[in-house]
Amino acid sequence: MHINQAAKQLNTTPRTIRFYEEKELVSPQKDAKNDYRTFTDHDLLRLSTILALREIGMQIDTIKGVLDNPDMSMNDYLNVQRSALFEKWIEMKDMIHTIDQMIEKTTEDDSPTDTIVALAKHLKNMKNLRKSWEDKWHFDDQAAGYDQNIKMAGYRFNVHQDYDKALSKAAETTNLQPNDVCVDIGVGTGNLGAKFFDKGARIIGIDQSEEMLKVCAEKYPAIETRKGHFLALPLLDNQADAIVSSYALHHIPDDEKLLALDEMNRVLKTNGQVCVVDLMFNDTQHRTDIMRYFGENGNLEAIDAIEDEFYADRSKLTEWLATNGYHVETYQFNTTLSMIYARR
Ligand SMILES: C[S@@+](CC[C@H](N)C(=O)[O-])C[C@H]1O[C@@H](n2cnc3c(N)ncnc32)[C@H](O)[C@@H]1O
Repeated sequence: MHINQAAKQLNTTPRTIRFYEEKELVSPQKDAKNDYRTFTDHDLLRLSTILALREIGMQIDTIKGVLDNPDMSMNDYLNVQRSALFEKWIEMKDMIHTIDQMIEKTTEDDSPTDTIVALAKHLKNMKNLRKSWEDKWHFDDQAAGYDQNIKMAGYRFNVHQDYDKALSKAAETTNLQPNDVCVDIGVGTGNLGAKFFDKGARIIGIDQSEEMLKVCAEKYPAIETRKGHFLALPLLDNQADAIVSSYALHHIPDDEKLLALDEMNRVLKTNGQVCVVDLMFNDTQHRTDIMRYFGENGNLEAIDAIEDEFYADRSKLTEWLATNGYHVETYQFNTTLSMIYARR
């Protein structure tokens, strides 16, 4: 088939096809005498894939990777693309929301410049916050040995004390019906998400670590894995019946935790539930008392472990949830491990 026919069949232009040829995405046979290109069925299939991937906004280099990298499947790349689009979409939503607020202020106020500058600054801060998080714990490297490491108790401080009990309690408390959507954020190797199988729920596991997601998908093929992070969940609004999370929230700084709750709130359905099992203190006084206790007992292992992470102040999370229309319950497993269950 010649280029004009190929373009017609694919509903595109010969110019577009030549562009992809220049970018070495497709290489049809060329007649040495007249330079006419011949497109085989294989070329047409490749071109239609390229056109589809361009349609969802994928960059040329990424498409090259999809088509030529045997280690990454099409599914892997589509996942990456979906997360990137969700991040952009969330950023656009923030911008539109800020513009709405600016319009409101300019209608109400005669000299709104200060407010507009403040709103723009807030928007910039939000953008930076969403992008600034770094995985200083290298979860990709931890993925293969993670399940084994959970079983190893620390010498004088065991963060995984009551791990099984806490995950079971979260599964027992969260009320799900068959086909309900349950999102597990920071799914890791899937230990919490898998506890919801017997309720017949559809589990979506989100994690920032591709290696964790791979282990999770191998262990539990029924968990749908998606790359994403607490501040940009790869989900549309009002999609989830429940959001669960275990041992993940303490990896984001305190000022981001409330934004994370806001992001959960966005994707939850009206009567949605949140169930977070994590390392946290009841409030600042509790943290002070516990840190003093470890200090007085020379337990540097505990102090270092706590200071390396961002154990939440439970009272701030529950206050946010109550203020935003949730009925909140808490449960404490040990000094530093708690569960927050909230229903809107
Ligand atoms: C300690 S593991 C917990 C895994 C699992 N939930 C469990 O209970 O065993 C923490 C997981 O949270 C993920 N995580 C940490 N920070 C995250 C973030 N900001 N967004 C998404 N996932 C995050 C890590 O990649 C890791 O897989």
